[in-house]
Amino acid sequence: MSEAVSYSMTGDVAVVMIDSPPVNAVNQSVRAGLKRVFAELRGLPGTRAIVLGCAGKTFVAGADIKEFDTGIAPPGYHEVLRMIEDSPVPVVAAVHGTALGAGTEIALACHYRVAHEGARFGLPELSLGIIPGAGGTQRLPRIVPLDVALDMALTGKPLPAAKAAEAGLADLVVGNEVVAAAVAYARKLVAGGAGPRRTREQPVKGAEQAAELFAAKRAQVARTMRNRQSPLALITALQAAVEKPFDQGLQVESELSSQLEQATESKALRHLFYAEREVRKIPGLAPDITPRPIARVGIVGAGTMGGGIAMCCVNVGIPVTLVDAAQQNLDRGMATIRKNYERSVSRGSLKPEQLEERIRLITPSLDFAALADADLIIEAVFENLALKKEIFGKLDAVAKPGAILGTNTSTLDIDEIAGVTRRPQDVIGLHFFSPANVMQLLEIVQAGKTAPDVVVTALELARRIRKTGVVAKVCYGFIGNRMMDPYGREAERCVLEGATPAEVDGALEQWGMAMGILAVYDMAGVDVGYLTRLERKHLLPQDPSFYRPTAVLYEHGWLGQKAGRGYYRYDGAERKRTPDPEVIALLREEAKRLDIPQRNPGAQEIQERCLYAMINEGALLLEEGIALRASDIDVVYTAGYGFPRYRGGPMFYADTVGLKVVYDKIMEFQKTLDPQYWQPAPLLKKLALSGSSFGQWQTEQSR
Ligand code: COA
Repeated sequence: MSEAVSYSMTGDVAVVMIDSPPVNAVNQSVRAGLKRVFAELRGLPGTRAIVLGCAGKTFVAGADIKEFDTGIAPPGYHEVLRMIEDSPVPVVAAVHGTALGAGTEIALACHYRVAHEGARFGLPELSLGIIPGAGGTQRLPRIVPLDVALDMALTGKPLPAAKAAEAGLADLVVGNEVVAAAVAYARKLVAGGAGPRRTREQPVKGAEQAAELFAAKRAQVARTMRNRQSPLALITALQAAVEKPFDQGLQVESELSSQLEQATESKALRHLFYAEREVRKIPGLAPDITPRPIARVGIVGAGTMGGGIAMCCVNVGIPVTLVDAAQQNLDRGMATIRKNYERSVSRGSLKPEQLEERIRLITPSLDFAALADADLIIEAVFENLALKKEIFGKLDAVAKPGAILGTNTSTLDIDEIAGVTRRPQDVIGLHFFSPANVMQLLEIVQAGKTAPDVVVTALELARRIRKTGVVAKVCYGFIGNRMMDPYGREAERCVLEGATPAEVDGALEQWGMAMGILAVYDMAGVDVGYLTRLERKHLLPQDPSFYRPTAVLYEHGWLGQKAGRGYYRYDGAERKRTPDPEVIALLREEAKRLDIPQRNPGAQEIQERCLYAMINEGALLLEEGIALRASDIDVVYTAGYGFPRYRGGPMFYADTVGLKVVYDKIMEFQKTLDPQYWQPAPLLKKLALSGSSFGQWQTEQSR
């Protein structure tokens, strides 16, 4: 086995290389290797300087996340980084790719840093619910100004090399091979008589402003990172850098780090890190299946959704043919796309020539025949089965052999849509979320006859257009929307029982949802859900109170934000959501008419009813094989439905509450609420009563 760390001599400069594929994450063998090599170099006469670089595509991309579960085996980070920092000869980091987390911390323990122009330095620990634990909070503000250090660590956004140089983090930025450049730089240092420049001996930069800065950041975090503990811990650690000597500051960082590693917040975020990588692996699909090439995409429907999907494709250089039945729709669609890009240009995130290039990549057409050379055609028309079937009939006639036919349906039976074509093996669901050019999630729905390489192609497309693709099987609403149904049902039911829309949404938002469900209905259009339910009326409970509040709003024409009112009013230029006393009174009236006793459920009950109903549906999806893994459901909800990442997704959250607790509550609701809606999923019951969890069940399934 090759060593994770080795060195060679280039004259009197030692070049130490870390080689720990795929991303040089630091594990025990990297730490042990660094310790061994730096000890050896200390005793090696004639070594005038040391360069520390990495093999492969990147500098160290972080601590090995797996070690957070198993514990850090010695040697520890502090010991190793101190050895590097204590080197009697100058140590120069040679950074390429992404120096993240422990990568940046190692670079900070070196005395100088040379960066490739494409390199980036970042501290993304908060995205894992932890703080830098290898001295990053103490060393970074001794190299860059305190405000820059706070921003880097709080946002997790990596600094590109040029910005890193401006901030003092990179001493030199080069366009050529970085290790060779760092060797040359080291030689120059030695020739100039420069010795080691130990970070821990430097004063904190910008400490005069510290009190105001910390107060402002604490207030900001309380506002924007609700319910989270790691951001506040991070500020405390940086405060220690200002207020305490280095070693004591390090002690504060260590204590906070180990508390955070054990906390649910970090476990949840680490769970998602793995879950988001796991979704790409589909059990039962041979690893050697190659995706079909996608050189041109056709899109049917130039509305908001079709336009958004077109933008996703041209953003990564895939040309699009955009077809619609009416010229005015095409014109409006193209104008909207241009307007969206113009906004990016005015914000400075897109160059004007890029805008023109992207528009040029879209060919609008009224003719289905224009789709004949597309490798993938995505239908994005109104959610109506008859219309979609008609379109798939037409696509079958024009599409070339082997072309993939995707439908952007969010609820409909894809087997039925595929059934109208002579090529059901090429048909797949591609459920984008609105606005498609912004939202992260792509639900990939494998219908009964969808060929494996079509699924693989869809996953590859998701990767190319930088979305998180999650595979589901066919059922009403697939994973996301099917679980929304019971969640919304309970929210509406709570309104009928006397909670105001603001109380329901407030309880959900306080818990951590990005937006309460009733406000979501207003944003999406109250008519959307209402009309979908109307189409499925024969399949739904014959309960006059079922989703009644939304129906009442629909009947009044209060369709949500687009109408200026729905569950709330949206007045003034800002269209800020405000409670609507008329709606509240109207819904009270409706409750009276339906004979629903007024009991006004409190925040905790609202949260439990909405979330446990959602979780129970998730358990059904797992039993039915609609979702492949519990963690896939978590990815769907955090990437597409505003579920708080720090709670890990609905199924992980249920595990943290304890399935027995969830089950008992559902049984209690069966007695106190409408029993037809409170039937525990058999899988939930089984796991709860045997003391198991969704996580454990998933592990057993994959064996
Ligand atoms: N620890 C352990 N494994 C890691 C890792 C880490 N810090 N970072 C990446 N990996 C693994 C991934 O799990 C993946 O494994 P898999 O192929 O078995 O699924 C593999 O490395 C490649 O990572 P991936 O994210 O798929 O590659 P990418 O090229 O898209 O992105 C990075 C590379 C480094 C930008 C990205 O992986 C990343 O952001 N990693 C986390 C960095 C981080 O948070 N570091 C701080 C930790 S304290």
